[in-house]
Amino acid sequence: MTMRRPTIGVFDSGFGGLTVLKALLELIPDADYLYFGDTARLPYGSKSVETVARYAVEAAHYLEAHSAQLLVIACNTATALALDRITAAAHVPVVGVVEPGAEAAAEATKNKKVVVIGTEATVSSHAYRKALEARQLNAREKACPLLVPLVEEGWVDHTVTEQVARIYLGQAFGDGFHDADVLVLGCTHYPLLKPLLHRVVPANVTIVDSAESTAHAVAAHLQELLPRSEAQLESRATPRLKFFATDSVEKFRRLGQRFLGHSTDDVQHVDLKE
Ligand code: DGL
Repeated sequence: MTMRRPTIGVFDSGFGGLTVLKALLELIPDADYLYFGDTARLPYGSKSVETVARYAVEAAHYLEAHSAQLLVIACNTATALALDRITAAAHVPVVGVVEPGAEAAAEATKNKKVVVIGTEATVSSHAYRKALEARQLNAREKACPLLVPLVEEGWVDHTVTEQVARIYLGQAFGDGFHDADVLVLGCTHYPLLKPLLHRVVPANVTIVDSAESTAHAVAAHLQELLPRSEAQLESRATPRLKFFATDSVEKFRRLGQRFLGHSTDDVQHVDLKE
């Protein structure tokens, strides 16, 4: 294998996956990144398996055609509903967010009770529950559909969002799950709510950010795929970033800033013909 800079393709339904890109950039700065946000067709969280799988496979092919050597499915919904279909269709390794999130939850829980929050589609697929039960953990999944629009509105520290989160999490941590000690953020948007969620959940609850766990899984994968020397791993080279969006470039720049924490300069519009 060559020891050159890897090109990592990151796919999401829109802007939220930039939280995963942010975690990747912190951990693996010596790489080139292609980020594909299917902003024209979001949200995925309320769509069917067939639709999400079709959209995600198209995006995966696009990233591969642009030389991605590894695909990261940053979208929890796309991972939960279609990781097997994307992996079968791709010619490069594919990493999703569910398994790394479940693994991090397994490491963090002491009493084997875990609450997962996500979109309607992610929760209905029970992908997290299956991944957690495979690790002998008890899982409670809770759909929190109002949180995505609240985050996109920029209300990440708003009293309304806090009230909404209290209602959802009150239900999630009820009925036999009062003593759950881990909360998995099973949606790209939720890492932005971490400070607010810390205020809402009991003090002993560990919040597992599947964006961070996924970045660690990608780093491990890369080390296998493109073994690099210690010196290379330690080099803090500047990552190169290119963004593709299926809807307005201007909107992507505006919202992208919010999720990534810095500007998204090189954004190209993509028209995926159905
Ligand atoms: N990216 C989606 C997820 O992580 C949230 C936004 C959407 O529904 O498209 O599940």
